[in-house]
Amino acid sequence: MKAAVYYQNGAPDVLRYEDVPDPVCHSRGVLIRVEAVSIEGGDTLNRLGGALVTKPHIVGYQAAGTIIEVGSEVTHLKVGQRVATVDGYGSHAELRAVTARNAWPVPDNLDLRLAAAIPVPFGTAHDCLFEFGHLKAGETVLVQAGAGAVGLAAIQLARRAGATVIATASSDERLERLKPFGLDHGINYKTHDVVTEVMKLTSKAGVNLVVDPVGGQTLQGSILALAYRGRISLVGQAGREPTKVDVSTLMHGNRTLSGVFLGAEILTDRVHDNIARLIGDVARGELTVVIDREFPLSEAAAAHAFIESRQAVGRVLLIP
Ligand SMILES: NC(=O)c1ccc[n+]([C@@H]2O[C@H](COP(=O)([O-])OP(=O)(O)OC[C@H]3O[C@@H](n4cnc5c(N)ncnc54)[C@H](OP(=O)(O)O)[C@@H]3O)[C@@H](O)[C@H]2O)c1
Repeated sequence: MKAAVYYQNGAPDVLRYEDVPDPVCHSRGVLIRVEAVSIEGGDTLNRLGGALVTKPHIVGYQAAGTIIEVGSEVTHLKVGQRVATVDGYGSHAELRAVTARNAWPVPDNLDLRLAAAIPVPFGTAHDCLFEFGHLKAGETVLVQAGAGAVGLAAIQLARRAGATVIATASSDERLERLKPFGLDHGINYKTHDVVTEVMKLTSKAGVNLVVDPVGGQTLQGSILALAYRGRISLVGQAGREPTKVDVSTLMHGNRTLSGVFLGAEILTDRVHDNIARLIGDVARGELTVVIDREFPLSEAAAAHAFIESRQAVGRVLLIP
């Protein structure tokens, strides 16, 4: 099969389009013909500095496609079925072998290109808001990196739950594009101080919850933007800088900082079933998957570079 591979970590131009051996279907797995690859925030970080589990390495968490082989121990999936899949790596390819547990059936009316981009961002945003963030109707949430896929999912889910939604992004144009999805107030962090703006918008009360996929210095602002008993779900390191914060600033306001890692619980019934529900919500038009742009799989390097240019709002796809 063809795949986008690399032999060393680095900038997007480490990606090559090459022939590699087909993956082998495990007895408890499925093999899919990939129709859409969703490039995750973690994929660009892994390309930059993650472990090369295979050599050459095929990066990538998420892809959707059609099952072409089913492992001997798998009884609930069949050849020809359309599925969205998640695994530690291997999405940037024409074929993908995954454990059957991490393949969610896709309803007939849902485009596989949208389905490819649901499990991780929506499942993660849901956990940040509800499982770990304990969000309630009437509260105010700050979503850092609102134009990213986790951010866009969090904006929609928080709005649906009856919260007021504030989000940050690196330009006014990006914030404008978030408004149709439930954004109440946008903060351009390049031109405005986030904590000052949050305090203005909340009459100095602060926000009840922050979803922070950026880390680094952004996390300190997240702490300072919190209301009394406010909570933070720290979920990523999109900022690509070390996260060094003064955690003592949590203490005086009885504030809580929680780490969130979907991968640690993705095999549980709770997360598995939640992702299935979220796929159904998108199929019914209750939630929206925002796709910014598609590239052929052969242009994976250009797709990664486009994401890192900070122009993408929502997801960028690769089409084999
Ligand atoms: N813990 C988990 O289970 C889990 C699950 C999913 C994702 N994540 C992590 O969450 C983060 C976001 O994921 P995602 O899929 O939403 O990513 P994404 O769609 O690529 O969005 C990332 C956003 O981060 C912002 N950003 C801030 N500083 C940046 C920098 N130095 N370089 C690039 N972007 C920067 C960008 O928006 P602006 O330009 O507007 O700032 C961008 O839109 C990633 O770190 C990912 O690894 C963790």
